[in-house]
Amino acid sequence: EQSVSEEGETYSSLLTSTLPTTQDWATPLFRLQGCWLTRQCVESVRLVDAQFKPRPDDLLLATYPKSAVQSLDQSGTTWLKALAFTILNRSRRHPVVFTGAGAGDNGHPLLSHNPHDLVPFLEMPDRALNPVAELEALPSPRLLCTHLPAALLPPATLGLGCRVVYLCRDPKDVLVSLWYHMRSMPVLQLQDSFQFTNAFDLFCEGVSLFGPVWEHCLGYWKGSLEPSNNVLFFKYDEMMAQAEKHVKTLAGFLGVPSFTADEESGGAVEGVVRLCSFHNLKNLPVNSDGVVADRIGALPTKNSMFFRKGKVVDWENHLTQEMAHKLDSHH
Ligand code: A3P
Repeated sequence: EQSVSEEGETYSSLLTSTLPTTQDWATPLFRLQGCWLTRQCVESVRLVDAQFKPRPDDLLLATYPKSAVQSLDQSGTTWLKALAFTILNRSRRHPVVFTGAGAGDNGHPLLSHNPHDLVPFLEMPDRALNPVAELEALPSPRLLCTHLPAALLPPATLGLGCRVVYLCRDPKDVLVSLWYHMRSMPVLQLQDSFQFTNAFDLFCEGVSLFGPVWEHCLGYWKGSLEPSNNVLFFKYDEMMAQAEKHVKTLAGFLGVPSFTADEESGGAVEGVVRLCSFHNLKNLPVNSDGVVADRIGALPTKNSMFFRKGKVVDWENHLTQEMAHKLDSHH
C-alpha cells in the first residue's frame, strides 16, 4: 500500500509528465494553466485545491515570487508580511510601543522573528510534508501569503469574500533582486556559465517560477477592478514613497480595524512604518544572523537573504537601456 506522500509523488509525476516543461533554469519547471511551477509547486497547488478550506474572513497577501526555485520569497513579500502582521496584531496580542527612533524592545514578535515565520504561505513545496491541516488550526482572521497567480487560487477564495492584497514591483527590479537571490543560494547549483543575460532572456520570455510576471500582475490587477473590491493592488515604489498612506489604506482594507484617531495622533502609523522599515528589519539580529531551517524542508535559509538593498530603480545599475526597453515593451 502506498503512503500518502508516495501517492502524492505518483500523482504529481503523472501530472507533470503531461505538462509542458523547461530545463532552462537550474531545476525543471512545468507549465500549469499558463504558469511555470516546480514539480513541488504543482503538487502543492494540488494539495491546496484538494484540502484548503477558505474562510470568508481570510486575509491573503499575494506577490510575485522573486526566487526561481526553492525559496519562495517575493518582491516585497517580507515587507508586506511585516506590515500586515503588525497592523493586524497591534490591538490583539502585541501592541506596538513606539519609543525613540528604533522599534524599541517591547517584545514585538518582529523583533525576534523573520516576517516569513509569522505569516505562513498558503502553498509551499514543503506543504506536502506539512499538511494543509496546519492552516486549519489558525485562529480567524487568518493572515496567509501566496504567490499563486489569481487563476490558480482555490476557486472559492475570492467568491467567499476573502480579502487579497497584491504587491506589485517593477519587473526590472524583480529580475535584479531575483538574480542576486539566486546567486546567493548554492543549493540552486547554477552553473558559472549561467549569466545575468541568460536570466534576463528567460524572464523576458515569461519563463520564470510563477511567471510570466506580467500575467501574474494582470490577474490581480483585473481582480482589483471588480466591483466586489476584494483585491487591493499596491505598488512597491509607491509604497516606498508614501509608506504611511499605504499603511493606513492597508489597515482600512484589512478591516482589523482601521487606525483610530487616538492611534493616529499617538504616532501608531509612523511606528508601524518604522518597525517594518528595511533598515530596521535588516539590522535586527534575527535577520542579520538568523537562519530558518524548516521553511523549505531541510534546506536552511539565511534570513539576511531577504534584505538586500531595498531600493527602487536598482535595475539601472544592471540593465542597459536597451534591455530595459525590451523588458518594458513586453506588457
Ligand atoms: P532588493 O533585492 O532589490 O533589495 P522579498 O521578496 O524577499 O521580500 O524581497 C524582495 C525585495 O524587498 C528585496 O529587494 C528586499 O531587499 C526588499 N525588502 C525586504 N524587506 C523590505 C522592507 N522592509 N522594506 C522595503 N523593501 C524590503
